[in-house]
Amino acid sequence: MLYSRTQSSDETSPVNSYTEWDPLEEVIVGVATGSAIPRESERMIRATMPEEWQDMFLANGGSPFPAEIVDAAQEELDRLADELSGMGVTVRRPDAVDWAGRGGYTSAMPRDCLLVVGSRIIEAPMAWRSRQEETTAYRALLAEYGAGGAVWVSAPQSDPDRVAADSGPWAVNESAPAFDAADFVRVGRDIVGQLSNVTNRAGVRWLRDYLGSDFTVTLLDVDDPHAMHIDATVLPLRPGVVLVNPTRVSERALARSPFARWDKIVAEGPRPAGAVPRCMTSGWINMNVLSVDEERVIVDSCDVGLARQLERHGFQPIPLPFQHLNAIGGSFHCAALDVRRRGTRESYV
Ligand code: ALA
Repeated sequence: MLYSRTQSSDETSPVNSYTEWDPLEEVIVGVATGSAIPRESERMIRATMPEEWQDMFLANGGSPFPAEIVDAAQEELDRLADELSGMGVTVRRPDAVDWAGRGGYTSAMPRDCLLVVGSRIIEAPMAWRSRQEETTAYRALLAEYGAGGAVWVSAPQSDPDRVAADSGPWAVNESAPAFDAADFVRVGRDIVGQLSNVTNRAGVRWLRDYLGSDFTVTLLDVDDPHAMHIDATVLPLRPGVVLVNPTRVSERALARSPFARWDKIVAEGPRPAGAVPRCMTSGWINMNVLSVDEERVIVDSCDVGLARQLERHGFQPIPLPFQHLNAIGGSFHCAALDVRRRGTRESYV
């Protein structure tokens, strides 16, 4: 497949990333220390959290996550950071914040609250009350990037009570822009997103208006009433190849998306439940991999089937343990934000 290679990047900006796969140069790896069980409305918890854990969230929201999980997750994150450093990637870390003391959630998931588009780094509004101050943990890094020439911008914040829906398909209404950064993936000049329980049309409209004509923001038609974050639903791995969750995205939906002409790797299935409680995600969290470049992909050591599948498509899986971090809410793609990848704004559709 041929793609137009016409645009140049802002090589002087410390923030420069247009895709999910260009060679990784700098990354923010999250910090689990200080993570708390998020306290959210019953509607939001029932809309987004696994059924068997919903009552736990409603009963314990606001308390610290159990120390044995947080400590093990922190070790996993440190190991990921070491591996990436060993590959020559510059690794940055946010501040550990006592989130229980502040009514917040975590510093472990930079992808959820920060969206990098080219030289822009955008703070997302965040629909969850417990996530309103999440970018506090990244403030020093954001200031440094801004001073270095990146465009640091914050989307309008909305009051979580006002944007909470009483009825309708999603836990957010349309009264104000709402989105989490992780409801979007980057494909050069195309940004592919989904509506979800934390992302509404007003949020997508704000992003479109802000990015202007240099980018096209397309909504994928996703079949997932519990949707929250697109990166266990579709994940582009290199130009022309996308990893797809077959239970959430139909061939018809893909045919009407920027991935229409791409090869699809159809994920074989969700990861079965394991010894570590997986409180916040579905088993499809196995798809939440991190590309170091067009070949190397970091996958969980326990997802042997997915690793083999990726190998068959010419990728080089790098297995690392991450199940305790999963318990706190995400996997490699969520926990690592690519601030800089070597690449330019190109069209891949
Ligand atoms: N919320 C997504 C899932 O649980 C990541 O699959």
